[in-house]
Amino acid sequence: FFLSPAEFVKSATDLSMIPENTMIPEVAFVGRSNIGKSSLINGLVNRNGLVKTSSKPGHTRMMNFFKLGDKLSLVDMPGYGWKSRDEWGGMILSYLQNRKNLRRIYILMDPSHGLKESDAQIMKLLDSSGLSYQVVLTKMDRLSKTKYSAAKAEIEAELVKGSICCFPLVLGVSSKTKDGLDELRAAIVKASQL
Ligand code: GTP
Ligand code: MG
Repeated sequence: FFLSPAEFVKSATDLSMIPENTMIPEVAFVGRSNIGKSSLINGLVNRNGLVKTSSKPGHTRMMNFFKLGDKLSLVDMPGYGWKSRDEWGGMILSYLQNRKNLRRIYILMDPSHGLKESDAQIMKLLDSSGLSYQVVLTKMDRLSKTKYSAAKAEIEAELVKGSICCFPLVLGVSSKTKDGLDELRAAIVKASQL
């Protein structure tokens, strides 16, 4: 999948603007503002600047759809915390719940911040809708190996407690150093074939 060049398809601010429900397998990236969603998509498709990123939280304000040939569709989401919860929840949840070609949702978390209440809330919603998700820890380059492992273990322990639809492998990435991107690509390819 990642051999095809990535292209921008469409931005959507509400459900009516979402590209038609296609047969192309889709994966979506969610997480708090500034966690590194847009940077990760650029890293995954190896095209800096395909998706705009910013050090200011709340940069991505629309759902942005990208595709790799006709094999895979990637969706960048506004972070939670920028839109009011109801607004975020309303638009995005109904997309997540109704999107037939959505194979997996990637929830991004910063290992130096740990699992936040907003992450727990979204996981609960996904669990109650039976939607498959997987946790990706971002900005690995900011922590020493030891600190990263400890943070990851802590998050994994939280996941074991309650999550139902969580894919039982937490991945770590750095969009800066490109660490972990191959493993995530492999996971996405697998998920998209399910
Ligand atoms: P919103 O669109 O506001 O929800 O944010 P986002 O989750 O899309 O984050 P974005 O990719 O725009 O990145 C936010 C900031 O984190 C930017 O300043 C990035 O350069 C930085 N960043 C993203 N990924 C990494 C990473 O792997 N390592 C480091 N050190 N910084 C990163
Ligand atoms: Mg963004």
